[in-house]
Amino acid sequence: MNQKLKNRSKLSNDSYDIDENKSLNDIKFEKNKIKNNSTNFCLKLIKFLTVFILITIGFSYVTTETFTFGHKIPNWRKYIPRKERVFTVEELSKYDGTNPDLPIYLAILGKVYDVTAGRQYYNAIDGSYGFFSGKDATRSYITGCFKTHLTHDLRGLTPGEIKNLNQWVDMYSKSDKYFYVGTVILPEIDPNSPIPAPC
Ligand code: HEM
Repeated sequence: MNQKLKNRSKLSNDSYDIDENKSLNDIKFEKNKIKNNSTNFCLKLIKFLTVFILITIGFSYVTTETFTFGHKIPNWRKYIPRKERVFTVEELSKYDGTNPDLPIYLAILGKVYDVTAGRQYYNAIDGSYGFFSGKDATRSYITGCFKTHLTHDLRGLTPGEIKNLNQWVDMYSKSDKYFYVGTVILPEIDPNSPIPAPC
């Protein structure tokens, strides 16, 4: 009798095990189905967005002859958080555009800006404003003297003239093309030295 009971319980356990396996498989199947469904949805969404973006760009080009409906694309480099650099005058001089593998930097009022996006103006080889690069030539921004005034020496200039420099600083700091890099340690001006001669 006892043996019979044992066998019965064994049997019922076996059948219970089989049921449990079945339901586990079912769950796995359901899970995979959900996973596949969401993957399919994501792929469809990516496909839709790609086609939508391409059509929009195409439409923009046909109507405005630009890919962005005439809007300027901001310089993404400007928004990358970066460590502020401190240059010596010698270090800064390397970034004058003579080496095409290096960015172009210039300084105004001791602040260094990356002007690589304007390489055609700022490279020291054949850029029309190449004399600004790799140095702080603040004085020449005011006087327009690009020979003897390529210096940070502002002695003899009026407060009004110096205030006008803000326009140039704004041009670099608010530009979509250029961005702030750091500062340059400028040598102190010897008060006994002569004021730079005008061009
Ligand atoms: C104080 C005098 C001047 C300073 C400091 C100065 C400075 C500059 C700078 C920094 C740029 C580059 C702008 C950029 O990065 O987008 C530039 C561009 C330009 N400047 Fe001047 N500029 C001066 C006077 C003049 C004068 C008198 C003329 C006209 C005869 C002139 C004509 C141009 C032109 C045509 C450009 C466009 C870029 C090019 O073709 O080289 N600038 N200027």
